[in-house]
Amino acid sequence: MVKLIHTLGDHGDDVNCCAFSISLLATCSLDKTIRLYSLSDFTELPHSPLKFHTYAVHCCCFSPSGHILASCSTDGTTVLWNTQNGQTLAVMEQPSGSPVRICQFSPDSTCVASGAADGTIVLWNAQSYKLYRCGSVKDGSLVACAFSPNGNLLVTGSSCGDLTVWDDKMRCLHSEKAHDLGITCCDFSSQPVSDGEQDLQFFRLASCGQDCQIKIWVVSFTHVLARSTEDQLKFTEDWSEEDVSMWLCAQGLKDLVGIFKKNNIDGKELLNLTKEILADDLKIESLGLRSKLLRKIEELRTKVKSLSSGIPDEFICPITRELMTDPVIASDGYSYEREAMENWISKKKRTSPMTNLVLPSLVLTPNRTLKMAINRWLETHQK
Ligand SMILES: *[C@@H]1O[C@H](CO)[C@@H](O)[C@H](O)[C@H]1NC(C)=O
Ligand SMILES: *[C@@H]1O[C@H](CO)[C@@H](O)[C@H](O)[C@H]1NC(C)=O
Repeated sequence: MVKLIHTLGDHGDDVNCCAFSISLLATCSLDKTIRLYSLSDFTELPHSPLKFHTYAVHCCCFSPSGHILASCSTDGTTVLWNTQNGQTLAVMEQPSGSPVRICQFSPDSTCVASGAADGTIVLWNAQSYKLYRCGSVKDGSLVACAFSPNGNLLVTGSSCGDLTVWDDKMRCLHSEKAHDLGITCCDFSSQPVSDGEQDLQFFRLASCGQDCQIKIWVVSFTHVLARSTEDQLKFTEDWSEEDVSMWLCAQGLKDLVGIFKKNNIDGKELLNLTKEILADDLKIESLGLRSKLLRKIEELRTKVKSLSSGIPDEFICPITRELMTDPVIASDGYSYEREAMENWISKKKRTSPMTNLVLPSLVLTPNRTLKMAINRWLETHQK
């Protein structure tokens, strides 16, 4: 049975999004405002509508506790509001100034993600309101985003149809064309799919597209294991027998867990396994299983190799997330790519992209040491 119990008609233009907390309903609109209603009788709160945005508000969402509301707009900002009194807590400007289409709180409330029309995605620290990390997709606007229930991963969807998985440091772990005509929405199921005794958790993700399709994905966390990917080399070699078991399960090789455990195979030994060892020492009889395992180990070795030559974090510009060629030190003490920082400042921003604090000066000094280090690194890594 479905019965209409109330209709709200306060907005003066298209209503773009709505969100519930335990006690409130928030709505946002092309009319630049956000409205808050009490769930008990759908009366508008005294401090509603919330006015700050200078253009259309695209998306709004509550923090998990419901005390804070985030909203984002064509005006290039993500705003945090105190839901109890309607005051703005923070105005966070997308570094590129691009219209912000989507915002989302992480499950533990520590971060807010803002996805923009130019494909940039920013993770803001929701306590200090500072930019924590920033990434970007090549094509299209970001129009959808969702955190995994454990907060380890963030998934974004673009108007070009790319579904991208990021880790908690905004490193791109995976990206693929999911919907030909663009993604409209994505969300994680809060219930993990558990792999029985192994305690391995997979999460289901659904993506919706303009191709009339809804796709359901399974995202596993074994490669992430809540650790940073920058040390994946060390990390795979440091895998315990338990980590190896989880890896086997994620590869669909659960049947081998027993054998691996019996032989005490850890990460180091896993990377070292050969055809002969599998057949003679581990006595894995099925040729199919041996081949599949070897293929997966080879993939792992390739990944380890490519990650171990990964660009050191300090060589990457915090604004563009790309390797710097002309690093300059700003008065906040951080180094940025000259062009990106000049752009930032020319948009009349006197705040630090990293700290959000006012820059004491707009002078940019070349960071020669860093430039030389980058060049040295390039010589040894570019063939
Ligand atoms: C296995 O590891 C050892 C040292 O850890 C190394 O010397 C050896 O070459 C490795 N074997 C293979 C086949 O990778
Ligand atoms: C140059 O950049 C590096 C890496 O970000 C930083 O550690 C160093 O302090 C910078 N140099 C100066 C003089 O700030």
